[in-house]
Amino acid sequence: MRLRAEATDPASVEANVLAVPIYREDEPFGDDLANLDAAAGGVIRQAIEWGRFNILEDYFALIEGGSLPVEHILLVNGVRRGRGPWRARRMGGVATRALQGKGASRLALWLRDDEDADGFAAAAVGAVGGTYRPADIYGRTRDTAAMKRNVEEVVFLGADQVVLDRAALIADGVEWSRDLSNRAANDLYPEKMAEEAQALEADGCTVEVLHVPEMRQLGMNALLGVGQGGEHPPVLVAVKLPGWEKGGDRRLAIVGKGVCFDSGGISLKPADKMEEMKHDKSGAAAVIAAARTLARIAPDAAVMAVAPMVENMPGGRAQRPGDVVQAMNGKTIEVTNTDAEGRLILADALHWAETQGATHLVDVATLTGVAAMAFGELISAYFAKPRDWGDDVKAAAEATGEWFWEMPLATEYRTLLDSPYADIVNSAAREGSLIKSAVFIHEFTTKPWVHLDIAGTAWMTADKATAAKGAVGVATTTLVRLGLDFAAGEASA
Ligand code: BES
Ligand code: ZN
Ligand code: MN
Repeated sequence: MRLRAEATDPASVEANVLAVPIYREDEPFGDDLANLDAAAGGVIRQAIEWGRFNILEDYFALIEGGSLPVEHILLVNGVRRGRGPWRARRMGGVATRALQGKGASRLALWLRDDEDADGFAAAAVGAVGGTYRPADIYGRTRDTAAMKRNVEEVVFLGADQVVLDRAALIADGVEWSRDLSNRAANDLYPEKMAEEAQALEADGCTVEVLHVPEMRQLGMNALLGVGQGGEHPPVLVAVKLPGWEKGGDRRLAIVGKGVCFDSGGISLKPADKMEEMKHDKSGAAAVIAAARTLARIAPDAAVMAVAPMVENMPGGRAQRPGDVVQAMNGKTIEVTNTDAEGRLILADALHWAETQGATHLVDVATLTGVAAMAFGELISAYFAKPRDWGDDVKAAAEATGEWFWEMPLATEYRTLLDSPYADIVNSAAREGSLIKSAVFIHEFTTKPWVHLDIAGTAWMTADKATAAKGAVGVATTTLVRLGLDFAAGEASA
């Protein structure tokens, strides 16, 4: 899809469709909207009065273009005015997704608010994302050419072409992240992720893959214990950007949970919706995709992506509840629940990242069902130590239209994870378990660290206005932005 900047005003732009945000506050119409409506011969006002578009209920409505040069006007629910990149990204996504399978090849997007570069970039990333089709990964014989039809060109009124060109590269990264997460566990198993990552050598990255013998030698028994039940052996994938070596005293490791399938292991999950657990590698998908994107737009960033990849499976060789393992940092863990596997693989991956010279850490993980229960599909929960490092991560998220919310890292709860046999248990009583999941991981880090729980936000459980059912590539844009800020010395912590 082509992204083009144009200085034209909305009343004279030529396209098949002009997308126009409508806000709750547009009663009466703001001047800019009233002017467009007058140029269109009043069709927007009519559509709203006829009940074809209700700002309180509808995501969008496609109406005729009236006396404008465009054939159709797409009224888009503008959600909330003044939300900057979040609003812009959502609008871009709703607009192109609404036109999937339609006859429109050229869409003009009028954001109305005076967006800055972040706003236009977010709109562009959203617009590309709205065209994403999970069915394209494996192909479906029942899909017709018309069903596959997407907008071919989006014109951003008032944007800067340089911003759009860069956004296109970032959108590519998000798409790859979604593909990696959406791919089935019989197709994308740990070694396959290593192969995918190895392709980043073409982008100048150094790719290291640790196999079982090396990991055993390093003492990564927390990770190995999780992977021991799977037919496909675990691997740890590390991608270092060209700038990593020159990072010196400022090096960022982004570490993503890579559970290619989470059956729960011996602490088996219920069958209902278990197929969604192929997405338990979404964190790994985000960090690998962010690394590729950064390698293309900011190769000098001192960033390394680390993806511990495992299958969490039951079986005769699988880890048992009650097993005790010693993590790479020396701490012993009583595995009280084999389904709390994410924190086990992150424990070793984060510690390993520190041994490689990381000075700052961010982990991204589909870690807990309760994060999804509490925050839903739009908001990712994070924990930070120190909190200003969390502020940097949150600022990066907001700049790209992602929505993060901080949770307290209450180390007071540490004693609730005490074990009679080991330093710590991996799972205890349900009360406070979201916080305790972070308190557990905290035990394995010594550097500034943020833990991001994307359990609710990594994939949609049904089709949405902005995205098809399946992975959305959450955190990818934030990690890219954080890498850019980090390279520019803009991160404060
Ligand atoms: N991958 C799951 C978390 C998850 C569940 C993500 C549902 C998205 C949707 C994770 O490995 C897990 O099983 N967590 C357990 C932890 C518990 C055993 C302490 C959970 O949330 O139930
Ligand atoms: Zn899991
Ligand atoms: Mn689990």
